[in-house]
Amino acid sequence: MVKVGPSILNADFAHLAEEIGKVKNADFIHVDVMDGHYVPNLSMGVPVVKALRKVTDLPIEVHLMVSNPDRFIKPFAEAGANGAIFHVETVANPLQTIKLMQVNDLVKGISANARVDIEKLFPFLADVDLAQVMTVEAGFGGQAFNVNAVYKIQQLARYLKEKKIACDVEVDGGIDLETGLRCLKAGANVLVAGTTVFASANPAEAVEQLKALKP
Ligand code: DX5
Ligand code: ZN
Repeated sequence: MVKVGPSILNADFAHLAEEIGKVKNADFIHVDVMDGHYVPNLSMGVPVVKALRKVTDLPIEVHLMVSNPDRFIKPFAEAGANGAIFHVETVANPLQTIKLMQVNDLVKGISANARVDIEKLFPFLADVDLAQVMTVEAGFGGQAFNVNAVYKIQQLARYLKEKKIACDVEVDGGIDLETGLRCLKAGANVLVAGTTVFASANPAEAVEQLKALKP
């Protein structure tokens, strides 16, 4: 089954509670955390997750686009996040980061940015719940889908099948009905979409349409 998580990066920050209230049919809320160092942009942090926790029952996934994810895992878990995704090249010891997520009861996610080879994730797939393939270079919402990602999703899906590893495959960046379908066909099962959902006149319908895609 396809799971859809709206990214609030391009939602109206002055009315976040209302924005999230528009996508009650989503499977989770995706929160993009940027530190101005790993990526050249700043976004949201722990206080925002704490505030969102009070206004939604949906699972909250934090996408840690930061240089030192280990430092933030516990604070985000305490703020009410349900899952976290870190970028594989940001830590010296990915297994330690995964362990940290585990002790904090978080769904464990690992990401390959657009410029990162998908093979970099392979040694850690048996230990995570979710592998994210960035379909844009992390840092900004509203970018165009990078077609090279389709090949990376295929490689990842092939590897997971070969090794009989069950883990979700999430795509993030430039996802709409057309690119989302391409990713699902390549082997993804979780779609993150920002612009497609929150720039839509009817965000719930946009979520519904993405959820209804059939690979
Ligand atoms: C990009 C973020 C994405 C982004 C998605 O750095 O990780 O989650 O907000 O936004 P769209 O769907 O607009 O590309
Ligand atoms: Zn993201």
